[in-house]
Amino acid sequence: MTALSRIDALIGQMTLAEKLGQLTMTAAGYAVTGPIIAGDSTAAIREGTIGNLLNMVGAEHVHEVQRIAVEESRLGIPLLIGYDVVHGHRTVFPVPIAEAGIFDRQVWEQTARAAAAEAAADGLAMTFAPMLDIARDPRWGRGVEGPGEDPYVGAQFAAAKVRGFQGGQLAAADALAACAKHFCAYGAVTAGRDYAAVDVSVRCLREVYLPPFAAAVAAGVAAVMPAFTDIAGVPMTANRELLAGWLRGRLGFEGVIVTDYNAIAELVRHGVAADLAQAAALALQAGVDIDMMADAYRRGLPVALERGLVSITQIDTAVRRVLTLKSRLGLFTDPYRRGATPESAAAIAAHRLLARQVAARSLVLLTNRNEALPLAADIHDIAVVGPLADSSIDMRGPWWGAAAEVGHVTVLSGLRDALPGARLVHAAGVAVAEPALGGIAAAVAACERAQAVVLCLGESAAMSGEAASRSELGLPGAQRQLAEAVLAWAHSRGVPVIVVLFCGRPLVLPWLFEAADAVLGAWFPGSEAGHAIADILLGQVSPGARLATTWPRALGQVPLFFSQRPGGRPEDPQDHYTSRYMDVANTPQFPFGHGLSYGRFRLDNLRITPARATADDRILVQVDVQNDGARPAEETVFLFVHDRVASVARPILELKGFTKLQLAPGERGTATLALAASALRFVGQDLELVFEPGEVEVLVGSCADAALLLRASLILE
Ligand code: GLC
Repeated sequence: MTALSRIDALIGQMTLAEKLGQLTMTAAGYAVTGPIIAGDSTAAIREGTIGNLLNMVGAEHVHEVQRIAVEESRLGIPLLIGYDVVHGHRTVFPVPIAEAGIFDRQVWEQTARAAAAEAAADGLAMTFAPMLDIARDPRWGRGVEGPGEDPYVGAQFAAAKVRGFQGGQLAAADALAACAKHFCAYGAVTAGRDYAAVDVSVRCLREVYLPPFAAAVAAGVAAVMPAFTDIAGVPMTANRELLAGWLRGRLGFEGVIVTDYNAIAELVRHGVAADLAQAAALALQAGVDIDMMADAYRRGLPVALERGLVSITQIDTAVRRVLTLKSRLGLFTDPYRRGATPESAAAIAAHRLLARQVAARSLVLLTNRNEALPLAADIHDIAVVGPLADSSIDMRGPWWGAAAEVGHVTVLSGLRDALPGARLVHAAGVAVAEPALGGIAAAVAACERAQAVVLCLGESAAMSGEAASRSELGLPGAQRQLAEAVLAWAHSRGVPVIVVLFCGRPLVLPWLFEAADAVLGAWFPGSEAGHAIADILLGQVSPGARLATTWPRALGQVPLFFSQRPGGRPEDPQDHYTSRYMDVANTPQFPFGHGLSYGRFRLDNLRITPARATADDRILVQVDVQNDGARPAEETVFLFVHDRVASVARPILELKGFTKLQLAPGERGTATLALAASALRFVGQDLELVFEPGEVEVLVGSCADAALLLRASLILE
């Protein structure tokens, strides 16, 4: 008997209540002492009218509820239990926007694999990740959870994360079902305000927001989560065109669609459903299988059936997809497989080591005036100042999985471990977001004998992520006053000030980038933050991260991203009537791909082979890279194209590849990138992909600043 026929036989035995139970996911409140099952879930699990849970962690507790489902319910269908394992589970890795800046597909897969092993050891079988929302408005708090501004990076990130979370065998004891979210264009919310309406063109959907999800589906992602938001008035949770039409129809996605938290019920607030029954019917018709936390399917679909809004066949189709996923996860074969074996101490130690290595690679050196960094190896007197200098809880960043509030290495701890004999004086100075100024004088006094000041500023972990939009992108609270006081004191005495900036989004701080001697963008580096930061500050590791998102110099520039179309009047300083501001330059504070290292790289000798290509050809793009610096370092080389004349205006830069090169001082190497000519197809006027003969410019360099890129001409035939 095949798995599918077993599933069909099971469906044939199920009551309507049992079927709707398989389409329901309820939150189990997870507290330190164990799960507090929300409402009557335990009874419902026993009755077979809840088939899925979220927010439960711990093998003992998972096995406890799994036993009720499997051994006490009528049909013994195992539970599917999911959790937000976004950038780590108990060991926290850098937040995704930081990890994306490593531009290393293998690292992206590795950390997801480690997180899956930890989460599965805790009994979990699904993660609500990877988050794949392209984000270009830093007012929105959720850019921190995703791969940045570019769809090519988003697609590469998606495939790597799906491979990492799901592993080679979905039924394996350390595999998680991945869930690509939030489908789609959630990052384009009006004015960067979370949950607000979304209006994007179909072209923009096809070129920017859909490609990461297409890559996730191609990589075999098990589930997809629609966004809370609408697109042009049609909420994603009820969007038949994009869910049933594009995702399932065009892409052939056969996995499970699970809603976001309470999203079906919110169709009433959207104003597209008069009541829960109609909302449930809209979601089911769109192809949604699991109702997370709205209880709309259980309460609404029986009424929708009576009204003739849906059919039992549609319900059975959804049930079949959910049971098929549970079967693929091996839950019918062995519901206790995940969590049967706790993570070994060696495995946990290996995850911490990986967390330190990845965190160091995720730190982006934004400025480094007069090579203020790395600090001298014999430094013995450092002032470690600021509200984020010794905050373990904030090193996790948003969506910290099951990680505790403590145990994450702070900047102060990391420097202490790295410099056991040094005199480190710590002063918070101010709180992260409070207006009080009382501690500033003490913080300045703490710098008295310092050879250098490490000033730790930025956002708390709670100031980005979900429901964390900001209308201003400066330093919160009284941090600017602290920074200015410390900078004034230090510079009056010739003491360098190194800023470590923690944030979940680019912050608009032109005054700080101007005044500080160096600024290290830390984002939120995770459990090994302090050790990784010390490794960079003291030169053990050369910073190699780059920005996966453009960093604006003014909020008024937003949305600001590199792949813009030129328009008919591109900026021309000599011509008043061109596209620019009266009060700020068009250029960003830092372009996409920006990041300094302890090396000094020079690129030359760009060549492409062949220089004339048809749609089936692969073009080899090569450029020589020389490290003229005194330290070994890693360079990231980006490949862009610009189709100057086409049937549709094309962006001035489109990213089509990236690669990395480690070079010793004085070493010269060659970066090689393969470009499939078919990747130069674009969405034509009829909104279908088109390959057009003609000249395409190939541009190569270390960031999305067109003026700095090497160029070559490719002729498509
Ligand atoms: C939240 C988030 C989503 C998350 C889900 C379950 O509201 O939008 O990203 O996976 O609920 O926690």
